[in-house]
Amino acid sequence: MLKALVWDGSALELLDQTRLPLEKEYVTCRSYRDVGDAIRTMKVRGAPAIGISAAYGMVLASREFHAGERAVYIERLREAARDLTAARPTAVNLAWAVGKMLDVALGCPDWCRIPEVMEAAARETEEEDVEANRQIGRNGASLLGDPVTVLTHCNAGALATAGYGTALGIVRAAVEQGKRVHVFADETRPYLQGARLTAFELVEDGIPVTLITDNVAGYVMSLGKVDCVIVGADRIAANGDVANKIGTYSVAVLAKENGIPFYVAAPVSTLDLACATGRDIPIEERDPREVVEILGHRVAPQHVAVFNPAFDVTPARYVTAIITERGVARPPYRESLKEMAEVEHSK
Ligand code: MRU
Repeated sequence: MLKALVWDGSALELLDQTRLPLEKEYVTCRSYRDVGDAIRTMKVRGAPAIGISAAYGMVLASREFHAGERAVYIERLREAARDLTAARPTAVNLAWAVGKMLDVALGCPDWCRIPEVMEAAARETEEEDVEANRQIGRNGASLLGDPVTVLTHCNAGALATAGYGTALGIVRAAVEQGKRVHVFADETRPYLQGARLTAFELVEDGIPVTLITDNVAGYVMSLGKVDCVIVGADRIAANGDVANKIGTYSVAVLAKENGIPFYVAAPVSTLDLACATGRDIPIEERDPREVVEILGHRVAPQHVAVFNPAFDVTPARYVTAIITERGVARPPYRESLKEMAEVEHSK
């Protein structure tokens, strides 16, 4: 599977996800501003992937500004951190990773070594993400039958992470265990992460996948063709409300109506216990052109009003379980998520 991001020691190579699946091209980010632009324009996307990219963005900033007084240097790192964090507001992994890198810089007693220790921390964050996804995969695969048909929305796969994926990590783990898995991938308008990215990943891996338009999700559920839904998350509030790609809420309601389990797969870095409920989660609105244009061709009348939120919030009552690298959280989420966040990371 192609990697979404590759750190070569001096620059960050990002697989340009705006061009997939037709072109497989990497763009080179040599400054933290390049990384911020790539996140804003969704060349890299997916909560964990933008967090790790921003961590490397902080490494680039630490090298760029490494001169002058410590206080000035730290102020410039703070500016870079603010800029990177503002690139996309909903996924908490971004602020989490940038905050972690800033803490590493502030905690480093030897000024000369700050870029070096930040690079080591970014590499570690990347490695830990893949390991977390593999564990999410194992934890989630044990919940699946054999054979099993999974419906997913958006892309919570290798391309959205440092590798392996969260929702698709569970699919991969189940396949590795010998289970017969079939996936329905919602196309996920308007950015088409399902059609362009999830379908691409699964076809590349030889995992059976059927692409459906978003409108078909309820119908395949009503036909009894779906055993469970598994999606990723951009931010999970303390009460278990889940922000994820726009359309996730509709899928969750349909799953409940049809008696189908609705699972959310995410690393602990996606939990934001400072948000009491989903109402506290900022929801990004994106350019109307994503809705009125398809591949650069206008498909709606000029001057029509457009509302283009990139995410929605699924209330906790629709969520059967939240699968993390530390285990499977069940309702009531206020308790189970708090416990999960507090567990010492022993793996
Ligand atoms: O706008 P995107 O493509 O960044 O949205 C991605 C999602 O909503 C994913 O489901 C989420 O980030 C989890 S990725 C493991």
